[in-house]
Amino acid sequence: MIEVRCPDAADTQAFAGRLASALRPGDVIELAGGLGSGKTLFTGGLAAGLGVDEPVVSPSFVLVRLYRSGFMPVVHVDVYRLGSLNEFDDLDVFELARDGVLVIEWGDAVEQTLPEDHLRIEFAVEDDETRVLRLVPSGTWAERDLAGVA
Ligand SMILES: Nc1ncnc2c1ncn2[C@@H]1O[C@H](COP(=O)(O)OP(=O)(O)OP(=O)(O)O)[C@@H](O)[C@H]1O
Ligand SMILES: [Mg+2]
Repeated sequence: MIEVRCPDAADTQAFAGRLASALRPGDVIELAGGLGSGKTLFTGGLAAGLGVDEPVVSPSFVLVRLYRSGFMPVVHVDVYRLGSLNEFDDLDVFELARDGVLVIEWGDAVEQTLPEDHLRIEFAVEDDETRVLRLVPSGTWAERDLAGVA
């Protein structure tokens, strides 16, 4: 298990950008952490690292946003306001992100539907606004060089 300390928002974005360079089509990233902990900001850094040239804004009302301007599609889901698992199934995000990267905010609610192969990132906020990102790999993510990315 790896922890990455990000004192500033720019550090969180920079780490997300480094992680982006290690991503492959079909990858699933689950983001966990409280309100305002940096999940959307992180997704913006990740998308920018994948060449997305539009700003990433929170999908909390629309539930899912698709960015196609990068090297591969980025599908950004926020399940915070989701009513039920059926509603999540209806979004069909795994199909939507088949050839791209799927990022899920508040993924705990849909944990049971996630593929075994995914990277969970837990965001903790310290008193001085530092974010500590804990990387929790599942499946083949355990074999990837996360330490090198961090
Ligand atoms: N070290 C840091 N890393 C990330 N964000 C930081 C940091 N310090 C301050 N911030 C600020 O915290 C806020 C994080 O907001 P963001 O929308 O990314 O959170 P979120 O986890 O997506 O929230 P929500 O659960 O409401 O979707 C931003 O305004 C960002 O500028
Ligand atoms: Mg958010």
